[in-house]
Amino acid sequence: MLNRRKFLKTSLAVGATAIIGGEAHSKTLTSFAEEKLIEDIPLRKGKSVMGLRCQPINKVRVGVVGLGRGAGAVDALAQIEGAEVVALCDLNLDRVNNSQNLLKKQGRKEPAVYTKEEDWKKMCERDDIDLIYNATPWNLHVPIALYAMDHGKHVAVEVPAALTIKDCWALVDKAEEKQLHCMMLENCCYDFFELATLNMARQGVFGEIIHGEGAYIHDLRESKFNGYYKNWRLDFSKNHTGNPYPTHGLGPVAEVLGINRGDRMEYLSSVSTNQFGLKLWAEENLKDDARITQSEAYKLGDMNTTIIHTVNGKSIMIQHDTTSPRPYSRIHLIQGTKGMAVKYPEEKIAIQPNAHGFQSETAQKELLQKYEHPLSKYIGEQARKVGGHGGMDFIMVWRLIYCLRNGYPLDQSVYDAASWSSLVELTERSVLNKSQSVAIPDFTRGEWVKHKPIPIIDMDKVLHV
Ligand SMILES: NC(=O)c1ccc[n+]([C@@H]2O[C@H](COP(=O)([O-])OP(=O)(O)OC[C@H]3O[C@@H](n4cnc5c(N)ncnc54)[C@H](O)[C@@H]3O)[C@@H](O)[C@H]2O)c1
Repeated sequence: MLNRRKFLKTSLAVGATAIIGGEAHSKTLTSFAEEKLIEDIPLRKGKSVMGLRCQPINKVRVGVVGLGRGAGAVDALAQIEGAEVVALCDLNLDRVNNSQNLLKKQGRKEPAVYTKEEDWKKMCERDDIDLIYNATPWNLHVPIALYAMDHGKHVAVEVPAALTIKDCWALVDKAEEKQLHCMMLENCCYDFFELATLNMARQGVFGEIIHGEGAYIHDLRESKFNGYYKNWRLDFSKNHTGNPYPTHGLGPVAEVLGINRGDRMEYLSSVSTNQFGLKLWAEENLKDDARITQSEAYKLGDMNTTIIHTVNGKSIMIQHDTTSPRPYSRIHLIQGTKGMAVKYPEEKIAIQPNAHGFQSETAQKELLQKYEHPLSKYIGEQARKVGGHGGMDFIMVWRLIYCLRNGYPLDQSVYDAASWSSLVELTERSVLNKSQSVAIPDFTRGEWVKHKPIPIIDMDKVLHV
């Protein structure tokens, strides 16, 4: 087997014809950026974890760190059979109390509690935890995930899993070395329309899928200044451009296209506007706040647009805008040779022979019913009741626990976590380099050719614990 350094040096040679997965693709690469990516990559330490099956865990014992977003996970876990929250970790005592109360209300055991800066280490060191659920600010995702895997724990980590290519590789290497799951919690893959369109795509309703679009367009101007622990999100906007939050839009589209399973993202090109909105909002709303004096320093462009080319000749467009007045959108557009679907601003489907217009409301409703994904059919009703972004959060957590209990591979592999998150650094590199095309590392190290896109599970046929 080729080691990673050798593989990349072969496939990313500047201006060369690269052999990727047995196919020849000529590409012209930027020089310094690619060289740096090659040099940063350590050698392979363990076998691939694509499709990893671990011993079934009858009762999945979970430690949750970060109880902002993580509080929703505690709520979900408390309502899932076969899951037990063993420990909670956060510096904010109110948040810890809230989660303790949630567990109590559901009649669950009292969890151990950790409230100091580095207490997450103690939590990871416990021998009665199977899964560390990491919902901390971005800079803590990788340190906690690595430490948890070093202590034999599976990891579920919030989005984006990592902020740099080096850290993306660190997650892949550690999961391979320890043969553990490291799943990124990309909840948008589990929303009802996304699941239905995945099913429709797999059943051939859209023909061959050729293009996808996704986004994270969410006006966070106020939250950036007034929410988040120590302004971590604002600080990132101060210091970085590109797309720091690509996975909500990319994840569901990547699953439809079979990214890392039969296809792979090959290169991208990214463009950002300058920053206008955050500065203006701060000036208009934070008149006496010292932070507006620094507001000119925000580097994050308001709108970032990235286009990705895949090895099989498909394309993906991903946008990010968290600083403009605009309704929420993740776009979620799937284009095939026979039809298309789009989710925002309204769910719409167009299919041949009448694809010049969208389906009638009745026809679309029937189609969505017919192709409802088995997962949302099975657990969707409970998910809607529990809530959490309309139910998709519950579906994701339920499915994660379900796979661990049955020893099944998880839907999202560490390679998905790494490649989807790699856009954080790669888009910034491209933006800073006048949108020059940047190669996307093959985190699977060639394994993507051997694997089929994730199947549509059949909830009647799978094993139940
Ligand atoms: N998937 C989604 O839909 C979604 C939605 C919101 C947030 N997120 C992700 O969840 C993560 C957290 O976001 P958030 O909105 O909850 O942020 P937040 O700032 O509201 O919460 C972060 C929490 O982490 C705690 N924390 C900080 N340092 C800690 C430490 N050393 N040990 C223990 N706890 C520590 C803070 O006290 C705080 O309670 C981020 O990665 C974000 O991207 C995902």
